[in-house]
Amino acid sequence: MKLSLLRLCVVWTIWVMTTLLLLDCELSGRPCVLGCMEDERAALLNLKAAFNSLNGTALPLWHANSRDCCRWEGIKCDNIANTMRVTELYLNGTRDNDELLLPWLLDASLFLPLEELQVLDLSSTAGLAGFTSTLRLKNLRSLNLNDNLYLEQLPNLDGLPSLTEIFLSANSFENLNHLKGLKLETLDLAFSNHLSSEDELLIICNMTSLKHPSIRENNLDDSIFEGFTNTLRLKNLQSLDLSGNVLKQVPNLNGLPCLTDLYLSDNSLEHLNHLKGLKLETLELSWNEMSREGELSVIWNMTSLKHLSIGFNHLSDPIFEGKTSLCELRGLEELDISGNAFAGSIPPCLSNMTSLYTLGLSYNHFRGAIPPSLLSSHRSLEYISLLGLGIYSTKQ
Ligand SMILES: *[C@@H]1O[C@H](CO)[C@@H](O)[C@H](O)[C@H]1NC(C)=O
Ligand SMILES: *[C@@H]1O[C@H](CO)[C@@H](O)[C@H](O)[C@H]1NC(C)=O
Ligand SMILES: *[C@@H]1O[C@H](CO)[C@@H](O)[C@H](O)[C@H]1NC(C)=O
Ligand SMILES: *[C@@H]1O[C@H](CO)[C@@H](O)[C@H](O)[C@H]1NC(C)=O
Ligand SMILES: *[C@@H]1O[C@H](CO)[C@@H](O)[C@H](O)[C@H]1NC(C)=O
Repeated sequence: MKLSLLRLCVVWTIWVMTTLLLLDCELSGRPCVLGCMEDERAALLNLKAAFNSLNGTALPLWHANSRDCCRWEGIKCDNIANTMRVTELYLNGTRDNDELLLPWLLDASLFLPLEELQVLDLSSTAGLAGFTSTLRLKNLRSLNLNDNLYLEQLPNLDGLPSLTEIFLSANSFENLNHLKGLKLETLDLAFSNHLSSEDELLIICNMTSLKHPSIRENNLDDSIFEGFTNTLRLKNLQSLDLSGNVLKQVPNLNGLPCLTDLYLSDNSLEHLNHLKGLKLETLELSWNEMSREGELSVIWNMTSLKHLSIGFNHLSDPIFEGKTSLCELRGLEELDISGNAFAGSIPPCLSNMTSLYTLGLSYNHFRGAIPPSLLSSHRSLEYISLLGLGIYSTKQ
């Protein structure tokens, strides 16, 4: 009798405590599951072993005795159906940079248990030269393979049906054939130097889903865009980064209805006539060879512009005067005209740009006072750069 009462009491206490615990974690918004899934933890330990093939020291916090892999470095978990699942994995820069370890192959099947993985960063993985099988991750949306010089072939990406974002800069792939048919939105091909043929460019231009490609630093010259009409397929393109190439003229980008941000800094641009008709918000043209004010007049009509940089060219003519001038860009928020040969006093008409919050005037030949109207307290202007100028404020 006494014994069964005791038993009842114990059962009741356990029930109350469990209920309280569950209530507590649910009320506080914490997931009611502690730690990560056992087979994901095992998969991560196998990955660690692969990254330390030979005698590496990568991923020191990934440890068999440590139960909650969601706390390990380079891992992000999310609560999916009341279970903590690994959703992001940053293996970039973790493998020892030991000459002896180069190059190496990674067994792609090690990732298989990480079924909810969405982001995988394998950039700068000291000598990664390829995968032993096809990567199969049905939820992966972002893959970073930047800076793997030994990776001579772009891996087969057919096993990644959700992929929308891929980073492939600073690699030396022989071709981009495995990009064919992908529905990418973001594609980073900076510093890759293999976009030498129109065929490669065609693969990119066929991707109707593309929104943000970067083809920075690829030695592209005007010839690759000559007679080029396939850009018309990129109807979703929002930004295009072509900085750091050797273009002399802006490529013909008409027919890209969504293009708002165009990055063309650090080329050899002299001719801008193809900018005509574009409805840009951001236009970067710094570090080019522009010397004729007339070429720029096509910009003064772009009333949608918010960010404009034309710094470090050879501009000296008065771009602030005339019926259509720079000051007509009333919606500009950022303007950089540094590093040219503009002279005289700072143009008062800049005061008419009432949305401006950053203004770069450095390294020109401006002299005299800052127009008081530019500095008046109701202005949005927050930053003004005046390095290397003979400028003073009247408030001195
Ligand atoms: C790895 O370490 C073991 C034991 O310290 C050593 O015997 C072996 O030679 C090392 N292997 C390499 C490739 O450095
Ligand atoms: C890996 O990349 C992420 C995101 O870019 C970064 O925050 C992290 O510091 C990098 N890890 C290493 C070890 O370099
Ligand atoms: C581009 O798409 C067209 C039509 O779908 C196809 O005929 C052509 O082979 C594709 N070109 C490349 C380089 O993918
Ligand atoms: C700018 O717009 C005006 C008026 O709409 C037009 O007459 C002029 O040709 C345009 N200039 C350029 C360079 O597009
Ligand atoms: C500002 O714009 C108005 C209207 O276009 C013009 O009359 C005025 O001269 C401009 N101000 C300056 C300082 O250029």
